[in-house]
Amino acid sequence: MCAGCSHVSPKWAGRCPECGEWNTLAETSVPTTPVRMPGGPAVSVPLSELSGKAAVATSTGIGEVDRVLGGGLVPGSVTLVGGEPGIGKSTLLLQLAALMASGGSRVLYISAEESAEQVGGRAGRLGLATEGVRVAALTEIDPVEAECRSIEPQVLIVDSVQTVVDAGLPSSQGSVPQVREVTARLVRLAKERATAVILVGHVTKEGGLAGPRSMEHMVDTVLTFEGDREQDLRTLRVVKHRFGSTREVGLLRMGERGLVELTDASRTLLADRSPGVPGSIVVPLLEGSRTVLVEIQALVSRPVDAGGPRRVTQGVDPRRLAMVLAVLEQRVGVSLARHDIHVSAVGGVTAGEPAVDLALALAVVSALTSWPVTTDTLAFGEIGLGGEMRAVRGSGTRIREAVRLGFDRVIAPPRGDDDDSTCRVLVVDSLAAGLEVAGVLRGPEGLTGSIGVHGDRGSATQGAGDGGPRDAAA
Ligand code: TYD
Ligand code: MG
Repeated sequence: MCAGCSHVSPKWAGRCPECGEWNTLAETSVPTTPVRMPGGPAVSVPLSELSGKAAVATSTGIGEVDRVLGGGLVPGSVTLVGGEPGIGKSTLLLQLAALMASGGSRVLYISAEESAEQVGGRAGRLGLATEGVRVAALTEIDPVEAECRSIEPQVLIVDSVQTVVDAGLPSSQGSVPQVREVTARLVRLAKERATAVILVGHVTKEGGLAGPRSMEHMVDTVLTFEGDREQDLRTLRVVKHRFGSTREVGLLRMGERGLVELTDASRTLLADRSPGVPGSIVVPLLEGSRTVLVEIQALVSRPVDAGGPRRVTQGVDPRRLAMVLAVLEQRVGVSLARHDIHVSAVGGVTAGEPAVDLALALAVVSALTSWPVTTDTLAFGEIGLGGEMRAVRGSGTRIREAVRLGFDRVIAPPRGDDDDSTCRVLVVDSLAAGLEVAGVLRGPEGLTGSIGVHGDRGSATQGAGDGGPRDAAA
């Protein structure tokens, strides 16, 4: 079986015929004991008797984690938390262990990577109330099961699933058969004892969870813990969730004393913003059911070497930027083919939504012309290949968050059907009109008469040629 794509092949090959990866095929045996849900009905029952009997979740003690899980941890569920090394998985789960224990749950923390003393030292540094948390440094599944039989924890944390082995299997630690078997046994344990199990999983360089894909199928919930190690923002995202929505996102901050919830994310993310700087604009992004205001920054400079222009992005999809640049060139006549461009979403945020398009365009053109967008202005909207603006979902909540944070001008595409607000919304139906009302092509005077005027590509392009932009002719 291929460790990358779970392709099954009857014989070994150096390269997986499915995904093309080298050295990922490993011999595996078919599990003989299938994972079953114990206690389930042996025969069919009327669905009406079961409806409404949803599992009751227990709060984890961290509101942002509860938000992602749709209320908390469900007894008998298995949750896999994936993330890069050093991102804070162990810290998060140790905090959860302590909080769930103080909420009255019996918690067993299995550390298969650090000694029990190291876990204790971290708990001390974090200032956690560890009453009710038991810890064991174990790397084999048999003693883990034995410990669960004797302690009967309501919550079992295994850090990490790749470092625990079944001593009865010949394959090495972290290999496909090992991870599969260990996961299967932990899933069985969770279902049999109604224990909420949380597994830590390592991710590969490519960002996928190491080990077979089938691991994701075996568990109930897959979360990823992400962030930039140089920054303190951490996001908890749902990849799969059997007990609720997969759209919610948890926002946390890694501080001196572990992870803290980001309750007012917009305010925190905009805290360091300096007003009046060209190349900067704020965009409202949807993170699950909430809106977060994020600053987009661009820097445009001429290439110094002959290697062609560079596009460097952080937190922004380079393909979105390339598309926006192509539309700027072809539909508005703003050429950036000879400039280096750096674009970033400030604060370690990932701005992946199409709604970020207009902000990208405004930031880049503002950086090019050195005309800043007024500080009280915010922009969002998807740009079509024809240079037209397209509505995005949730425009009402985006505008309300802008108003809450004191912005009073929003540049937005023609409204969707879901909004009502009191803020000054400058509706633009083309990218050119957006550039014009933002005043980035030829300064704030370009604003006069433009508000509410829909996409006049000619006039905006004209503006660019009028000598207004200080740098665009370069
Ligand atoms: P850790 O939880 O060990 O990461 P993982 O289990 O995902 O590998 O976190 C490691 C990093 O977190 C470490 O480099 C230091 C940092 N950290 C803080 O910034 N504040 C804290 O309170 C703690 C405990 C860790
Ligand atoms: Mg760890």
